Amino acid sequence: MHIDILSAVPDLLQSPFQHSILQRAEQKGLLKVDVHDIRKWGIGKARQIDDYQYGGGAGMVMLVEVLTNAIEALAAERKYDEIIFLTPDGETLNQGISNEISLKNNLLLICGHYKGIDERIRENFVTREISIGDYVLSGGELAAAVLVDSIGRLLPGVLNDETSALFDSFQDNMLAPPVYTRPSNFRDWEVPPVLLSGNDRLIEEWRDEQALDRTKKRRPDLLDLDE
Ligand code: ADE
Repeated sequence: MHIDILSAVPDLLQSPFQHSILQRAEQKGLLKVDVHDIRKWGIGKARQIDDYQYGGGAGMVMLVEVLTNAIEALAAERKYDEIIFLTPDGETLNQGISNEISLKNNLLLICGHYKGIDERIRENFVTREISIGDYVLSGGELAAAVLVDSIGRLLPGVLNDETSALFDSFQDNMLAPPVYTRPSNFRDWEVPPVLLSGNDRLIEEWRDEQALDRTKKRRPDLLDLDE
């Protein structure tokens, strides 16, 4: 998968993809993330990328011409399956959406800043709008990092144990069961004996029960989604 990201603050995106699972994905050639500074397409000597909004009101708006030039330059290199704008008024990201997007080949992510981007970009280029939750960030960069992380780990071959993403929380609309590692007794805090029993069937039953119990207590709304 190839992901281009358009950002006015590209430095914010220098580190997130250089560690752990996403780093491994890049090293294995399964994921390539390129961050592009929107200012490269800025206007004039000052490389202007935003302006006051028509009709008045606080906050700057990213210029339609700058974003159009940026998008068209990148789209000339690569055919995008989705052009995604990160915005608090988009559809709220969930595991199902990440699963769906992880099946695409080429993505362009646009990070807004200031008050937002000129609406004509959304109307004419953007194919999908995603929010990472009902709160407002200073820009779309951290949201883009969240999206790329959640997609990247789903790409086949990225996780060591191919099955492990299948057991993540939210796959099947369930939270994941609790996990333990050595020692089995620490300060008299004991690991549930069933996990030490060696009986795979009992362990699986216990995990299913725990997952269901946890989901009922913490996120009953997820169980309604199955109906
Ligand atoms: N930009 C600002 N806030 C955001 C959010 N919650 N999700 C996605 N992009 C954003």
